Amino acid sequence: MLVNSQEKYAELDKVIAANKGQGGAVMRTLQAAQDIFGHVPMDVQIKIAEGLDSTLAEVYGVATFYSQFALEPAGEYRIGVCLGTACYVKGSKDVLEKVCQVLDTQVGKTSKDGLFTIKDTRCLGACGLAPVMMINDDVYGRLVPDDIPGILDKYRH
Ligand code: FES
Repeated sequence: MLVNSQEKYAELDKVIAANKGQGGAVMRTLQAAQDIFGHVPMDVQIKIAEGLDSTLAEVYGVATFYSQFALEPAGEYRIGVCLGTACYVKGSKDVLEKVCQVLDTQVGKTSKDGLFTIKDTRCLGACGLAPVMMINDDVYGRLVPDDIPGILDKYRH
């Protein structure tokens, strides 16, 4: 595991060098950067753009288009609300909205206390429990929006 940021940037340099001039270089380099840093902050995006002779607009465009990329450090708890078909028809959108409302933040963002990052996800393979939400490895099913405040409270220190 790479511990300090110098090592991480050195690793990023290697990835950039390996991908330069190849098709799909921006996407692949962003994926590697996310693995290395855990997210892709602006300084990393700038380095990728310069290293690949791309533009920041292109790198930023890819980073913000795909929900797999996080632009800020993830919270301690990753919340994934399933928006797969089975969950959607059972009201998972309302559950997701409640999570956003209670945490006063948006999908893809981290709560101000740094604890929770909210994501929408595809089918989690637990459709029988729809609508489903995961918090790290914990699975919650058959949810209604009113369940959300109590569930989130369990994770607050
Ligand atoms: S659609 Fe949500 S778990 Fe399958």
